[in-house]
Amino acid sequence: MRIDILSAVPKLLEGPFSHSILQRAISKGIASVHVHDLRDFTLDKHKRIDDYAFGGGAGMVMTIEPIERCIEHLKSERDYDEVIYMSPDGELFNQKIANQMSVEYKNIIILCGHYKGIDERIREHLITREISIGDYVLTGGELAAAVVADSIIRLIPDVLNNETSALTDSFQDDLIAPPVYTRPADYKGWKVPDVLRSGDEAKIDAWRHEMSLKRTEERRPNLLRDSD
Ligand code: ADE
Repeated sequence: MRIDILSAVPKLLEGPFSHSILQRAISKGIASVHVHDLRDFTLDKHKRIDDYAFGGGAGMVMTIEPIERCIEHLKSERDYDEVIYMSPDGELFNQKIANQMSVEYKNIIILCGHYKGIDERIREHLITREISIGDYVLTGGELAAAVVADSIIRLIPDVLNNETSALTDSFQDDLIAPPVYTRPADYKGWKVPDVLRSGDEAKIDAWRHEMSLKRTEERRPNLLRDSD
């Protein structure tokens, strides 16, 4: 899978893909992430990529030209499944969408907004899907794009090993994951549940499932109601 991220602040995206599991997936060639600086695509001699809003009001608006030029440049090199705009008023992202994207998409473009937003005509003519990572407003779409890219990439086969398998994630089956423990079995009197040390796999599986249900009921009952 190839993800192209268009940004006004590309430095914000240097960290998330340079470490740990994502970095390994990228160096193994399972996924690739390309961050593009929108200033490289402006024809403005001052490299401006925003302008005042028609009609007045506070806040600058990102202009069409650098975004359109960057998208067209990428599209001239390969086909894209989707051009996604990260926006607080987009479709609310969740594990189901991450799964769908991970399975169905080969190449995607993610546009990060900044300032007061992007010229509406970009949304009308160039964007095919709008995604929000939650009902709060970030200073820009970069952190949101990193969240979406991370959650999609980790689902690609061979990115996670057996121990970290995505199959046991919270939300993967509309349940919250059960609690986990490691050594020591007793830390100053804080004990690991006996069943996990029993060696009885069937019993352990049953306990984990029961804990998942209990946690989901207590913390996120909406997952049980909305699961169909
Ligand atoms: N840009 C700013 N806030 C955002 C959010 N909540 N989700 C996605 N993109 C955003």
